[in-house]
Amino acid sequence: MKIINVFVVSILIFSACSVQKPAQDEVVSQAFDFAGSQIRYALTGIEEAEGSTDPKKISPRSVRADGSIEMVSIGDWTCGFFPGELWYMYEYTSDPEWKLAAEKFTDKLEPVQYYKGDHDIGFRVYCSYGNGLRLTGNEKYKEIMMQSARSLMTRYNPQMGLIRSWDFNKDKWQYPVIIDNMMNLELLFWACKESGDSAFYQAAVSHADKTLTNHFRADNSSYHVVVYDTITGSAYLKCTHQGYADESAWARGQAWGAYGFTVCYRETQNPAYLKKAEGIISFIFNNPHLPTDLIPYWDYNAPNIPDEPKDVSAASIVASALYELCQYLPDRAEQYKKWADTILESLNKNYRATAGGDGGFVLSHSVGDKRTDSEVDVPLVYADYYFLEALLRKQQMEENPLPKR
Ligand code: GLY
Repeated sequence: MKIINVFVVSILIFSACSVQKPAQDEVVSQAFDFAGSQIRYALTGIEEAEGSTDPKKISPRSVRADGSIEMVSIGDWTCGFFPGELWYMYEYTSDPEWKLAAEKFTDKLEPVQYYKGDHDIGFRVYCSYGNGLRLTGNEKYKEIMMQSARSLMTRYNPQMGLIRSWDFNKDKWQYPVIIDNMMNLELLFWACKESGDSAFYQAAVSHADKTLTNHFRADNSSYHVVVYDTITGSAYLKCTHQGYADESAWARGQAWGAYGFTVCYRETQNPAYLKKAEGIISFIFNNPHLPTDLIPYWDYNAPNIPDEPKDVSAASIVASALYELCQYLPDRAEQYKKWADTILESLNKNYRATAGGDGGFVLSHSVGDKRTDSEVDVPLVYADYYFLEALLRKQQMEENPLPKR
């Protein structure tokens, strides 16, 4: 009798634990179910507002304090993420309704192919058209992506060997390059493979090499902005624009670096890029200020930790990069997958946006720009995009596990 009681109690404890901590595959299905219902809600809100808002505002970015969705035009670097999320919903569900929605929101971006106002053409186009091309093979998408890559190349100065990230602050910054710029190289690698024109590849590699040389500190953390002299080509100023301080480690910047150098390794097989990605991951996960749930504060050196806002977007970008890195660093794969899984579990459990609210975003608690007190502790579309991407990568990895070493 006593033995049976112990057995029953054990089963009850086991069941209670299972409820609290979903199995790995349940994290993916729970998160996608939630994302689907939120994004449907967002689509309804956007459709209802159509006609009454500026027709140029075509894609959601965040939610305002009054609960209204902040829509952006093609001039905003985030305009490609929502179409990208719709493609990821289609990839996960194979539901043609999601494909229709993805096509509709992707098509709205068509003029972006001629945009030359900043470096973020890669974000705008690779997340939207890039995913659309991968999932449908639509030839029209290819043409738009190729023209977009040509537009991005207009910002590449061969004498500098770098893409110019921004055009503002011209009185202080001769030729500014930000760590985020690493994310825009994927479009150039694609354009080289598609066209056979190695100029795209050479530009991407030159930019990555100079970033490797000039953007990093000895501990593998990176500066946000490095400014180059247009005559000598030397880096004369290293500073921040969105981080806490010039010498601090802005959390999303570290995430862009880890993800960007992982992509560069994938495309070139240059071990220096892999070493840098590994170094950045080591900086992040050995950082004494990284909380145990692995969702970082907005800056690793923010002055009032633990009373600082967290940045969910930085966490979801890193999770996605970690799943890819598992393929290239088999000796680290078990640890990297554990970290990525923990991030996704934390996000799914404790950082969701309000169900049926928050403008239909999936996650909350991201930080856009704490320095200017803009978008602090709010949903941001890119946090959701990389969350869905990471979930898909997790699912693919668990369906096709790496060989045990
Ligand atoms: N690329 C702009 C940002 O991360 O805020």
